[in-house]
Amino acid sequence: MEPAGPLSDLAGRFIVLTGANTGIGRATALALAARGASLALAGRSAARTQPVLDAIRAVGGDARFFLLDLADLAAVRRCAEQLRAHGRPIDVLINNAGIASQRGLTTDGFELAFGTNHLGHFLLTVLLADRLRAAAPSRIVNLTSTSHYEVARIDYDAVRAPTRTFTGLHEYAISKLANVLFTRELARRLGPSGVHSYAVHPGVVASDIWRRVPWPVRATMKRFMISNEEGAATALYCATSQAVADHDGRYYDRCREGTPNPVVEDAALAGLLWTRSVRFAGADL
Ligand SMILES: NC(=O)c1ccc[n+]([C@@H]2O[C@H](COP(=O)([O-])OP(=O)(O)OC[C@H]3O[C@@H](n4cnc5c(N)ncnc54)[C@H](OP(=O)(O)O)[C@@H]3O)[C@@H](O)[C@H]2O)c1
Repeated sequence: MEPAGPLSDLAGRFIVLTGANTGIGRATALALAARGASLALAGRSAARTQPVLDAIRAVGGDARFFLLDLADLAAVRRCAEQLRAHGRPIDVLINNAGIASQRGLTTDGFELAFGTNHLGHFLLTVLLADRLRAAAPSRIVNLTSTSHYEVARIDYDAVRAPTRTFTGLHEYAISKLANVLFTRELARRLGPSGVHSYAVHPGVVASDIWRRVPWPVRATMKRFMISNEEGAATALYCATSQAVADHDGRYYDRCREGTPNPVVEDAALAGLLWTRSVRFAGADL
């Protein structure tokens, strides 16, 4: 991938995006398609993604749907296989999909937020790594959150059990810390081959992520949040801007580099998350 400026044409670039049927992912997909990128939109529902495909195609854009359930590792493998069969080197992988305030277990028995937000994306990324290397210089953008500041370590017994807290917000924070640690370790492992990684906090965004909050409260909260389009800005910046082309493994907020939770500086934590994730997901680079 040639370095791209913020307003450059993305024609000829192939970008894989998870969770693009709604929220920040939808806004990100529409913006990338408007700049000419070819998109693979990976999500749980073809029907829910169809309106986004229609909107992209209505303006002459190119996008295809790929079935992906991040909470089911076999489904992640099938999606990666389909994407690999598609044949194109991947210029950018945007690991955007996520859940918050939901409780339970994934199909494979992992805590729902950890399994969906981290482990599913871990496996997808590892299985697509050679397609990203083939497009180098290429990029991986991982959506995280400021909630990652709220926790300092990952309990590897807790991530193999159902969500413990009533709100699920502690588990969400753990999954978002994992997103930042994963970004660090990806930089160490893939950076030398020209695949650069970025962790992005999108802002507090009036997306569907608040769907479990009761309606009157949700409506009031959303009035103080930024739009999905504004929320897409930092992921778009990290996916395409020449200003960050040489960066790798860093954290961004409001289209600026930020300082993540200091625990992220501990390379051993990122290394441990990687080795546990390899064991859990059964795949390595
Ligand atoms: N909104 C915020 O204020 C905020 C703040 C910080 C970070 N973030 C992060 O930003 C990212 C995007 O969130 P959003 O606010 O746009 O949320 P959203 O509107 O709820 O969209 C989430 C997307 O993830 C998909 N998804 C959920 N579970 C999935 C699974 N098992 N497999 C595949 N796809 C799945 C959803 O698909 P379905 O329609 O099938 O559920 C949807 O497309 C997330 O990583 C989130 O943690 C958001």
